[in-house]
Amino acid sequence: MKIVTIVGARPQFIKAATVSRIIRAHPEIHEILVHTGQHYDENMSDVFFRELSIPVPDYNLEVGSGSHGEQTGRMLKGIEEVLVSEKPDCTMVYGDTNSTLAGALASVKLHIPVAHVEAGLRSFNRAMPEEINRIVTDRISDMLFAPTQTAIDNLTTEGLAGITCFTGDVMYDSVLFYSEWIQRDPAKYRTAGLPANYLLATIHRAENTDNPENLRNIFTALAKLNKDVVLPIHPRTRKIIQTSFSIPGNVHIIDPVGYLEMLKLTMDATKVLTDSGGLQKEAYFLQKQCITLRTETEWVETLHDNWNIITGSDPQKIEAAVLSDIPSATQQLCFGDGKSAGIILEKLLSL
Ligand code: UD1
Ligand code: UDP
Repeated sequence: MKIVTIVGARPQFIKAATVSRIIRAHPEIHEILVHTGQHYDENMSDVFFRELSIPVPDYNLEVGSGSHGEQTGRMLKGIEEVLVSEKPDCTMVYGDTNSTLAGALASVKLHIPVAHVEAGLRSFNRAMPEEINRIVTDRISDMLFAPTQTAIDNLTTEGLAGITCFTGDVMYDSVLFYSEWIQRDPAKYRTAGLPANYLLATIHRAENTDNPENLRNIFTALAKLNKDVVLPIHPRTRKIIQTSFSIPGNVHIIDPVGYLEMLKLTMDATKVLTDSGGLQKEAYFLQKQCITLRTETEWVETLHDNWNIITGSDPQKIEAAVLSDIPSATQQLCFGDGKSAGIILEKLLSL
């Protein structure tokens, strides 16, 4: 069975690392890896392939950055050419980026079945580019791999239950697998020069970076905290703050780090503040309280017992959440059993 896997952005490299490791071990699967080139900086792309031993992509379309239409259009053209030449039995896409949408759309137009990993997530906020990408991708896919019961419920409501199956979350598989690597040699993955106690923060979503008031509010809140904040900065955010912000003295900006360093940064943090989808879950899996700098989350399972607190960019809410007690209740195991990639393999073989 020939599968074309399409990735392009940081979180997709991490998810595909886990699934590719499992599916490539099966003698009947031949995987062709396509990197759209949506992310291209060394520390947004190559570091993940190197650290996580992801096979070198068979194709790199090198589309780079651009407006949504321009970027997605370039991807569509490049992916179509690959699919026409490779003639796979199935295309696999991950998550909710422009690379996901382009992969699914190019494939379905060529009558090649599409499998969507991390299907069924909904924020119900149509201003988010990710929400549009997810809705369209789920609607045109042939097989929907849902990470949570909430995702199943969303897809059922949309009439897609017949092609949906629960797999659990491949990012949970990743955290379990790679945490063991880190535990074997923690010093190797520790970022140098960190303060003794710190809050870990990431900010990159359009709703914060494209809205100067939101970004200013978040930095105002961080400045008031009287605590060290370590912020591995996404290039999108760096470009904006370079021109219009002065960084508070307690905020330590560092370049984006590899996945293993990021897991270690999360393990050693007191709390996490983020607008990332993936980091909200990793905080939860690693038993760190998360403060979500958005007005809603798709990962509603993480909200129980205040393990994840939604604050948006409101400085008062952010401050209250940072000062709140760390929950003592245990996490619920609702993201599968760490064997999601194996379930995905079984389902692919049954296509
Ligand atoms: C994309 C996804 C988002 C995901 C995020 C993961 C879409 C619509 N958004 O957002 O869902 O959470 O990836 O990180 O697909 N840039 C660089 N170097 C790079 C990559 C990007 O400098 O290697 C800069 C460019 O100025 C670019 C900007 O970051 O214009 C945004 O990059 P883009 O890939 O369009 O969106 P992300 O914000 O990364
Ligand atoms: N991540 C990383 N290095 C960083 C910041 C994040 O490896 O400097 C990882 C993070 O641990 C998670 C993934 O990138 O696994 C999340 O990606 P991102 O926040 O870019 O996108 P989202 O999940 O919001 O789509």
